[in-house]
Amino acid sequence: MQFETKLLSSSETDIKEAAEIIIKGGIVGMPTETVYGLAADAENADAVAEIFKAKGRPQDNPLIVHIEDIADFEKYAKNVPDMAYKLAEKFCPGPLTMVLPKRDRIPDVTSAGLDTVGIRMPSHKAALALIRTSGKAVAAPSANLSGSPSPTTAAHVMDDMRGRIPAIIDGGSCPVGVESTVISFEGNAVRILRPGFISAEELSEFAEVIIDRHITEAAESGERVLSPGMKYKHYSPKANVTIIESSGTDYVKFVNSQGGEGVYAMPFDSDEKFCEIPCIPYGDSSEEQAARLFAALRKFDELGAKQVYARCPSKEGVGLAVYNRLLRAAGFEVKVI
Ligand code: TXA
Ligand code: MG
Repeated sequence: MQFETKLLSSSETDIKEAAEIIIKGGIVGMPTETVYGLAADAENADAVAEIFKAKGRPQDNPLIVHIEDIADFEKYAKNVPDMAYKLAEKFCPGPLTMVLPKRDRIPDVTSAGLDTVGIRMPSHKAALALIRTSGKAVAAPSANLSGSPSPTTAAHVMDDMRGRIPAIIDGGSCPVGVESTVISFEGNAVRILRPGFISAEELSEFAEVIIDRHITEAAESGERVLSPGMKYKHYSPKANVTIIESSGTDYVKFVNSQGGEGVYAMPFDSDEKFCEIPCIPYGDSSEEQAARLFAALRKFDELGAKQVYARCPSKEGVGLAVYNRLLRAAGFEVKVI
């Protein structure tokens, strides 16, 4: 254990302490409205390299740069299209990441060697305060060990990062619960590279929207993907997860025919009373499911689950983000009944 990981609050004094760590090239666990991130000075190549180490993250997966003012887009990106400003006006601060041509001040390690950079302005007060107080844009991937479910509480970050980073700011539970929507620009269209809380339906009020096919289809090994994160199996609890795509009645019938040690259901809240095997429900609306999905997946690990049968969420609106994360947790295993 390299560090005695300290839990900080979002008081002014504690934010100052966290900002000092960032200024000195260290890493801080940072709450955002989506999930917790591991923040370090985006322009400090050594500090960013430490993030990759702390997470065990593949070197070819770029980090998102977090800013606290839309005007800073120009500081880190060039040739910013008008559409980006239109979207920023509507959705920033908030869970939207825009992939733009990067300026040289963003080191290669942050962009994983790409000539683009993903930029977002989070809406969480503690994240904004940390960026403002440190005077640094912060590179921040989700604060989980690479491959495990993203953290939505400070306790989740502590579980994964204890001893690996000097401090975590406790900003409570993340209200959105799934990571930001990642988009790139193609002429007048935007391409969704990762679905999030800002949905395709919302974006389509401003631009033609292309939903990248790797959101719902696994990449073949060696196939080129537009966002490196799409290559990796993600968000996986230790249990085998299978998605059951069916009506509620058929889902309940199916799980009740299963059983045995370590077998669990992940139903909607409204199915719970009909389930005869142990279960962790994850909500009824897509928003609730987004907010609770990762905590539920982590809970299965704590319980030592071996097999989890998850009821397939809606694929509309925020539901597409929930479905995308669950698909990856399930290694794309879907059983249609
Ligand atoms: O909500 C979020 O976005 C959270 C919080 C902490 O802000 N962050 C997050 O970061 O989810 P991370 O590193 O876990 O996921 C970033 C995703 C990865 O799939 C990565 O491949 C993609 O964004 N990405 C980042 N920069 C990119 C770029 N220049 N081009 C294409 N994809 C990019
Ligand atoms: Mg992540």
